[in-house]
Amino acid sequence: MELQTIKQHLTPFYLYDTELLKKTLSIAKKEADHYKYIVHYAMKANSNDRIMELIHSMGFGIDSVSGNEIKRALQIGFKASDITFAGVGKTDDEIKLGIEKEVFSFNVESIPELEIINTMAIRLGKIASIALRINPNIDANTHSYITTGTEENKFGINIWEMDEIFELLPKFIGVKLIGLHFHIGSQITDMNVFKNLCLRVNQIQEIFIANQIIVENINVGGGLGINYHEPDLEPIADFKSYFAVFKRFLDLRPNQKLHFELGRSLVAPCGNLISKVLYIKKGAAKQFAIIDASMTDLLRPALYQSFHYINALYNVSAKTEKYDVVGPVCESTDIFRKAVDLPKLQRGDYIAIRSVGAYGQVMSSNYNLRDKAGEIYVD
Ligand code: LLP
Repeated sequence: MELQTIKQHLTPFYLYDTELLKKTLSIAKKEADHYKYIVHYAMKANSNDRIMELIHSMGFGIDSVSGNEIKRALQIGFKASDITFAGVGKTDDEIKLGIEKEVFSFNVESIPELEIINTMAIRLGKIASIALRINPNIDANTHSYITTGTEENKFGINIWEMDEIFELLPKFIGVKLIGLHFHIGSQITDMNVFKNLCLRVNQIQEIFIANQIIVENINVGGGLGINYHEPDLEPIADFKSYFAVFKRFLDLRPNQKLHFELGRSLVAPCGNLISKVLYIKKGAAKQFAIIDASMTDLLRPALYQSFHYINALYNVSAKTEKYDVVGPVCESTDIFRKAVDLPKLQRGDYIAIRSVGAYGQVMSSNYNLRDKAGEIYVD
């Protein structure tokens, strides 16, 4: 993008590379189609209309986690029959909406939730399709804040609760069990973790089969990670290896369908946060590049100590220096990264914080009454 064009926009702003997004989506779709796998886009990662429309046009379904996400997905044109609805704390209104719209499945996270969905469906004269979210007790080997599949987590139903479930299900005439659901965490790049998930799912299926239950759908959630450290070297996640692991290690029963809920791997690489350097401040032993973006625009580094590649734009200085790249908010965690090697910066220079298309703009806030960053799309 030309410097002239960048200058026309108020910084900070999100810049989405739609060409990269389309390429990523078409590779993911092709690799999934190869095995007839169904991919639901985890829209919590980025719910901008333009991005959702592209994802819709490529034939993905939706993984939603709130009533408002369901409404937005329907507005964009996704069919209710392609929408899964997850979340540990679904409210009565949200459950009612999901039942009335007839979403593909409620991913049910606890026995009390199962009871409520059953009661509400009966009251509404409907039968709600449900998948049991089972906690597979697998360590995703990722940051503890984004791991979800171990017993010490609020997510999912534990294996030892299954006997109670098997007893309750035949009595619950308002729900129909259509699947088993699993999700172990996010930003997972070690394929062995997914292999372990497959082996665990196989064991859990055996428990269900021993109880004469063969579900139509297995949903293994999302979690495929991306290369945050080298975004230009590896701009697209390794979908081929990812789906191949499931093909190789997960035993599907005849006619069983395999579903995925991918968020980050589909949309993270296409997003950049463009910001302008406000001040270069010299400390005793280091220097700070204070930029006009902050943790209100991109929370990930402050919340998870996450790494984002940072590069300077249009700066041809041959001399590089080290900077702590920080935002203006008076919180000590408002730091994007420490000791970043960048060409010598000055006030007014532009920088790009990379791979922020997922869990970037959606997690922004108005803290300090700061304006929210806008977005632009380029091919
Ligand atoms: N399915 C379920 C049930 C989930 O909880 C999640 C993400 C996904 C699918 C999509 O996972 P993905 O493919 O994007 O890894 N804000 C954090 C990530 C939170 C992920 C929450 N669950 C971050 O910025 O790293």
